[in-house]
Amino acid sequence: MTEYQHVDGTETVLRDGTIKLHGPEGFEGMRKAGRLAAEILDALAPMVQPGVTTAQLDDAVREMTLDAGAVPATLGYRGYTHSCCISLNHVVCHGIPSSKIIKEGDILNIDVTPLLDGWHGDTSRMYVAGEASIKAKRLIDVTYECLMIGVDMARPGIRLGDISAAIQKHAESHRYGVVREFCGHGLGRLFHDSPEVVHAGRAGTGPELKPGMFFTIEPMINLGKPGVKMLNDGWTAVTRDKSLTAQFEHSIGITETGREIFTESPKGLHKPPYGV
Ligand code: MF3
Ligand code: CO
Ligand code: CO
Repeated sequence: MTEYQHVDGTETVLRDGTIKLHGPEGFEGMRKAGRLAAEILDALAPMVQPGVTTAQLDDAVREMTLDAGAVPATLGYRGYTHSCCISLNHVVCHGIPSSKIIKEGDILNIDVTPLLDGWHGDTSRMYVAGEASIKAKRLIDVTYECLMIGVDMARPGIRLGDISAAIQKHAESHRYGVVREFCGHGLGRLFHDSPEVVHAGRAGTGPELKPGMFFTIEPMINLGKPGVKMLNDGWTAVTRDKSLTAQFEHSIGITETGREIFTESPKGLHKPPYGV
């Protein structure tokens, strides 16, 4: 059975399996953290160019986050030592920034989570270095559609499985594979909380959405089969068949009538090409 817990943003929140239902303080906190996260992704758009290393982008994320009075929530998280995740080409998620040089035609996801005044703004977008292949562009477009199909459905009364099923249906209609090993999640004062938001599943199943719920939707969609493999570093997840993969992520809050997107781009840089 799903348990919900009303929180007002001041109490200590525990990862106790309950789904938190937040009030106005939570919305205000998430609005600020989410906006900062989206501004950081906006600022990265002109920096993603052939020749730049993923470590340089990570440095930029750390500086922008700290300058804004926030901390990267990934820094020190379960032993992770970077300020964001950068996942290139066939890397599904949790790519570790390094001295690797981005080259013409690469596609990459950058995932940032500033922790601002106790609230987590978690969002990611795809970027393209130079010009991507038609296949890669189509994958990116459909993955963005998968995210927004889920976001636009989110409202009180539907179930999480309705979102999962709609995302899966759209991805599979293009013969893409939906990654099962990683999912969206509740968040707020905690980085990763209940519920799990899976991106493939059955309509009519899972917890019912209620006003005050905060969670991410972050589909990972593969050009090939859905299978993933973990590299020896314990973080990097890659497609088993080495096919290209894409991901977008928003943090949202359920309102009385629908949802508020906390991480919408202030500059309208929703998906590539960003024209910068
Ligand atoms: N931002 C990721 C997410 O969307 C989590 C990254 S955790 C890390 O949930 F440790 F890998 F950075
Ligand atoms: Co997330
Ligand atoms: Co994220």
